[in-house]
Amino acid sequence: MMLHLIESQQFTKEIILKLFNRADELRTNKFNLFAGKVLATLFYEPSTRTRLSFEAAMLKLGGQVITTENAKEFSSASKGESIEDTIRIVGTYADCIVLRHYEDGASKKASLISNVPIINAGDGKGQHPTQALLDIYTIFRELGRINNIKIAIVGDLSHGRTVRSLSYVLGKYEGIELIFVSPPHLTIGLDIKEYLDKHNISWREETDLDKILPEIDIVYLTRIQKERMSSIEYFDAKGKYVLNERNLFLLKPTSRVMHPLPHVEEIDLSVEIEKNDPRIAYFRQAENGLYIRMAILEMVLLENEKIN
Ligand code: CP
Repeated sequence: MMLHLIESQQFTKEIILKLFNRADELRTNKFNLFAGKVLATLFYEPSTRTRLSFEAAMLKLGGQVITTENAKEFSSASKGESIEDTIRIVGTYADCIVLRHYEDGASKKASLISNVPIINAGDGKGQHPTQALLDIYTIFRELGRINNIKIAIVGDLSHGRTVRSLSYVLGKYEGIELIFVSPPHLTIGLDIKEYLDKHNISWREETDLDKILPEIDIVYLTRIQKERMSSIEYFDAKGKYVLNERNLFLLKPTSRVMHPLPHVEEIDLSVEIEKNDPRIAYFRQAENGLYIRMAILEMVLLENEKIN
């Protein structure tokens, strides 16, 4: 088990299965496990799903939440306080800290001095391990399996931390075929390619989205991360890979469309299609995040109790 949750390589298949089963239980039953426990959510970058689903998860488990939305501006970081000092202090108020930060490696740095568990909720271009968990939980619920799937990961693969964490987790399963589709200047990192090779996971890079849509089980789209690149890089990528009414029909009836969200121009489908086409899985995916994060909080908090 684990105290801090920093990167998705920490999950074993056994832990993943336990978390899936527990998330299923938590979806339908009420548990008042954490009365008197406090979760701190420290977010130095914007978030809708991750922060609010972690906070809802803690409240549903009977605990309470303290938070700094926009910590870059509204915490004492704006006065120059180091992340280490902030973590040391917040750890005396809370039993667990969920941290989103704009620097790669910030959660690791925080974990080295923290007395309470740190959960990485996204660190720069690094990782977003709880997103990867909710992604494969969604794949499992939608397709009934994780092994033997062909998945296209599309968009900004250079800055996307969700695709990095997802690739690491998928690397644990059998019969996975990964197809990376991105503009040439936003390809997946060499470290991920090396990891996949080491784990004998089949992968290839493609540039034509329409060509591969008929052959895949999952298309996992991502947003071009405008905030992490120059305007020239952004305009070279913008609008290059779009799922719309013209190419959606190329997907098999059993395939699923996933996205960590928020989605912007890379998905151009009507609200009617998003609501009624069973292949559109990204809203169910976001909801799954609540239950998987309840299971993660429970695991991390109980493990911390055992250690102390
Ligand atoms: N998927 C994700 O991390 O969404 P938020 O940025 O809204 O938390």
